[in-house]
Amino acid sequence: MGLLTVQKVSKSFPGVRALQEVDFELKAGEVHALLGENGAGKSTLMKILAGIYQKDQGRILVDGQEVEISSPSHAKSLSIGIIHQELCLLPHLTVAQNIFLGREPRKWKGLLDEKAINDATHVLLAYLKLNLDPKKKLGSLTIAKQQLVEIAKVFSNVSKILIMDEPTATLNHTEVQDLFRIIQQLKSQGVGIIYISHKMDEIQQIADRITVLRDGRYIDTVPIDTPINRVIALMVGRDIETKTKTIPDTSHSPIKLKVENVSRGDWVKNVSFNLRKGEILGFAGLMGAGRTELARLVFGADKMDCGKIYIDDQVCTISSPVDAVKAGIAYLSEDRKRYGLATDLTVETNITLVHLAKWLRFKFWLLKTQLVEQSAKMVEKLGIKTPNLEQKVRFLSGGNQQKIVIAKWLLRDSDILIFDEPTRGIDVGAKAEIYQMLDMLAQMGKAIIVISSELPEVMLLSHRILVMCEGKITGEVPGEKATQEWIMSLATQRG
Ligand SMILES: Nc1ncnc2c1ncn2[C@@H]1O[C@H](COP(=O)(O)OP(=O)(O)OP(=O)(O)O)[C@@H](O)[C@H]1O
Ligand SMILES: [Mg+2]
Repeated sequence: MGLLTVQKVSKSFPGVRALQEVDFELKAGEVHALLGENGAGKSTLMKILAGIYQKDQGRILVDGQEVEISSPSHAKSLSIGIIHQELCLLPHLTVAQNIFLGREPRKWKGLLDEKAINDATHVLLAYLKLNLDPKKKLGSLTIAKQQLVEIAKVFSNVSKILIMDEPTATLNHTEVQDLFRIIQQLKSQGVGIIYISHKMDEIQQIADRITVLRDGRYIDTVPIDTPINRVIALMVGRDIETKTKTIPDTSHSPIKLKVENVSRGDWVKNVSFNLRKGEILGFAGLMGAGRTELARLVFGADKMDCGKIYIDDQVCTISSPVDAVKAGIAYLSEDRKRYGLATDLTVETNITLVHLAKWLRFKFWLLKTQLVEQSAKMVEKLGIKTPNLEQKVRFLSGGNQQKIVIAKWLLRDSDILIFDEPTRGIDVGAKAEIYQMLDMLAQMGKAIIVISSELPEVMLLSHRILVMCEGKITGEVPGEKATQEWIMSLATQRG
């Protein structure tokens, strides 16, 4: 008998049939991967199990007993825990306060027993072998560390069923291994785990079985040794065009962006490079190597200690993102929630947001219709799954939100485009589309920087790769000769 059985569950939102008669079964002690394209309905199904949404139809059984999961606290009482795709911790509280939120030990007169929760958190973190300080304010940690706190929190609430919705999207290699170790511990205790991810190599490492959803429907459940191509075909229902690597000769194109001896504290140390028109320049390195920090300096989001930036051979003072946008630089941030999106505004407003200032100065209505047209085109081009342009962005699936960030900057028509982890959380099909788009933009003469932690991705996309380690550029690898070994040896070259 399964630990959890889902039978013919359906769920609709206004204009969207998110789930149609979906079946799913979870056994005790297994890691069951749930796969599907962006908007396939994975998170919706998980939110139903976690009591956040209510199903319209169908049955859910826990330990063979039919249940109506009416609220998150009800889900908790049924021993169902969830780690969300988007973080939902409180940044102004400490690590320990977040872990014990809602079940804090109280002292006399209801005062919080800080010492008790700090001690308990210390023990918990030590048990999980996580190197975190219980007393640190959560907001001061990196997104990845915050994610580990969330995982520790769920672990401490011991559940029978644990849902992980893209838990590794923001984690680096060692942190992923930390997580996998915790998952193994939970498995051996008989916990059933539902694991959602777009990273196929992870799935193969950690999962026992795979269930595939497509367009809100159940497609199939297959064992983990099913060939990867077969799994992808189940997910997308068609063959994906795989990008073939083409490297144009841009050695004679004009230099569009020149970065000279740029430094900031310990993060970026004396970095210089050129970027030519029509070139895709990749930045590889381990998490924390200084790639995002460098991009933020070029974009004026942080202030450099020293160094110069030239655009078209002219020295350019960029002291804020506004200056950067004026100078024709676009930056797609890796953290879409914090910098890229206004999730309470509509799809259309988000896509056209960077134009706002521009259209206010012109005839409002004329440009407005143009913008609506353009956003509609972008939504179609990128295959953004939304019932209409008036939908609030927070109602879109995670991957579709990422596509909106991309759409918005593409419309701005900048000459220099910096993509920081452009395909994070994006499904295999849409990834291929984004790769093609980058190629197309380069052919149009745009100068492009791609920062990516997925080595196969940087290698596939870049004409030339710069590798960073501890704030410095440690080497350059030509696109046609790039190997993982070469890049990794430069990425770990300290000193
Ligand atoms: N609260 C909501 N209101 C309206 N529509 C919603 C809501 N939540 C989800 N949807 C829609 O339901 C569909 C399924 O979304 P869901 O978040 O489950 O996808 P997903 O498989 O998790 O995708 P991703 O891989 O991008 O995270 C999408 O079309 C989404 O826009
Ligand atoms: Mg999702």
